[in-house]
Amino acid sequence: MISKKTPFILYGGDYNPDQWSKETVIEDMKFFKLANINTVTLPVFSWALLQPNEDTYNFEWLDDILEILKENNIYVCMATSTAVQPNWMSKKYPEILPVDFEGRKRKFGGRVKFCPNSEKYRELSVNLATKLAERYKDYPNIIAWHIGNEYDNYCYCDHCENKFKEWAKKKYKTIEKVNKAWNMNFWGHTLYSFDEIIAPSGLSEMWYGYDKQCTNFQGIAIDYNRFMSDSILECYLGEYTAIKAITPDIEITTNLMGTFKPLDYFKWAKHMDVISWDNYPGLNDDPSDTSLRHDLMRSLKNGKPFMLMEQTPNQQNWQPYNSVKRPGVMRLWSYQAVAHGADTVMFFQMRQSIGACEKYHGAVISHAGHENTRTFRECSELGEELKALGDTIIDSKYNAKVAIIFDWDNWWAVEFSSGPSISLKYVEQIERYYKAFHNLNIAVDFVEPTGDLSKYSIVLAPVLYMLKEDAADNIKNFVSNGGTFITTYFSGYVNENDLVSLGGYPAELRDMLGLWVEEIDALPPDMNNSINFIYKLNPMKDNYTCNMVCDIINLEGAEALAVYGSDFYKDKPVFTYNKYGDGLAYYIGSNPEQAFLNDFALRLAKENNLLLGIEPKECVEITQRNKDNYSLTFVLNHNNDDVTLKLDNKNYINILNNATIKENLTIKAKDVAILKSIDN
Ligand code: GLA
Ligand code: ZN
Repeated sequence: MISKKTPFILYGGDYNPDQWSKETVIEDMKFFKLANINTVTLPVFSWALLQPNEDTYNFEWLDDILEILKENNIYVCMATSTAVQPNWMSKKYPEILPVDFEGRKRKFGGRVKFCPNSEKYRELSVNLATKLAERYKDYPNIIAWHIGNEYDNYCYCDHCENKFKEWAKKKYKTIEKVNKAWNMNFWGHTLYSFDEIIAPSGLSEMWYGYDKQCTNFQGIAIDYNRFMSDSILECYLGEYTAIKAITPDIEITTNLMGTFKPLDYFKWAKHMDVISWDNYPGLNDDPSDTSLRHDLMRSLKNGKPFMLMEQTPNQQNWQPYNSVKRPGVMRLWSYQAVAHGADTVMFFQMRQSIGACEKYHGAVISHAGHENTRTFRECSELGEELKALGDTIIDSKYNAKVAIIFDWDNWWAVEFSSGPSISLKYVEQIERYYKAFHNLNIAVDFVEPTGDLSKYSIVLAPVLYMLKEDAADNIKNFVSNGGTFITTYFSGYVNENDLVSLGGYPAELRDMLGLWVEEIDALPPDMNNSINFIYKLNPMKDNYTCNMVCDIINLEGAEALAVYGSDFYKDKPVFTYNKYGDGLAYYIGSNPEQAFLNDFALRLAKENNLLLGIEPKECVEITQRNKDNYSLTFVLNHNNDDVTLKLDNKNYINILNNATIKENLTIKAKDVAILKSIDN
């Protein structure tokens, strides 16, 4: 659990009392009680109030608020307020202000707008974090530290450029090695000294293409991303180390953003005690896509329960269409997080502000200023329910037998690649493969390419374009020990510098897959091909469509299961498998329609005995979390209609209403059941 002080689900959210009078704060305590709130996160954006100038700190107002919170038994996720440096600081130390991708020096404004390599920023933020930790180390109600807020600040200033030179020197040692890694003889870009290195931006090798950043030199751009992710992480780490020295027993986090491209969260996770993240789906988003993000966040720290640090109680302000959550949906999506491994359900925000851009963002306490709103009622009812659960769910484990390889370096490389197709989006592909298993209610973890695969039966690596050192060996080891592996087109092309491995794709995976790829054809959006099976492979159909890209494959030991239906590569293999050691390696050479992936997942699930005893139904999500002596089955009905499920001949109790359930479970639209088995 996050803190021994709180053996229950943390429930509350971001609270900004610095925007309100003391009377309002006191009134809020009444609302917190009514809504069964037990935790607030604060102060997230109060640096300017906490430090009015370089020599003065002002903590008294915060002391007062913390005292009020303590009197009201509210726990605190203590934020460090370093996401927005004060205006005076930006003025006094202009080097703190970043330079954007287009080379423009920013003025003070917005948030998370500081140069991550600014020594001044780092010094002053660490000072503030230290002062907070020293002042509140004995404050009994802190249950976690929350550093910064949603880090995302790439910078292209001269100082960052110089730091990038140093970073490259540390990594490559000699300029010859840099030239090799970035292939600088291309277009005559040869470097003769580290000093000639230029940060890749809109002023140099990069530009904004259709809907993404493009680059002439993928090697430089990927390294700059690594460098920026590391630089920003160092800001976090400065504060982390200072706080840890003062309060070693309190867990530290920063709020992540799911599939957020700029930061390599697997690398970050190694320096976080607990993962927390902010979940903001839109009205019609596919629940599977949200589950994927919960699973990715849980997987960052090997399955350790995570914190849902933020979600909106009803609507956002920053989406194009800020729909309110329909009745029951806030509760459903809260349990979706818990069903995937969260032990915390928190909101942005507790009280709706009256000015600036978030005044129309949902809050537990709305502008109406009383408890008679639908949102407040729903929050309060959920709070009641979570309270009644006590520690039943806390620290229970999620157990997956299927893993998907996910890698930030690979993501950057795939999308910086000039070709084969602008339609190729890494996360979209991951979503399609994930969905096939998720729809069968099969638990999925995410792993790094070199992560431990030994506990899985099936590992998928869609579009594993970049094979970093040891990745191929790791995968081969998994397969030769009996695992089932699935990969796709555009895999095994390059090393970690985006340099092509010669001899035929997918390079080091060739022998395991028993094939080599000669060409990759890209189909314009109005073209497609088909996947025609040579054998009947239950429960798969005889034909499926495919599109986007088509590999032209030569077999070297693999067997073709299906061939293309048209074009000059008609009858050439598109879907193959190969026995390798005790395991199986499948290759999918094109982008199949979703039905192909769904049916293939069903086949694999049956072969590996992974299906739950409860029959899957569309948009009814089922997951399991296990404690030492019992397991909890979460059933989430995302449909607009009631659904009846046939259970698996076990007797259950729904711990949300204490109903005993045998044979059938009828679950209302948007409702949730948590079934505890009572047979053993
Ligand atoms: C983010 C931030 C919050 C708030 C919300 C609004 O998640 O962390 O401070 O701005 O967005 O949705
Ligand atoms: Zn900078």
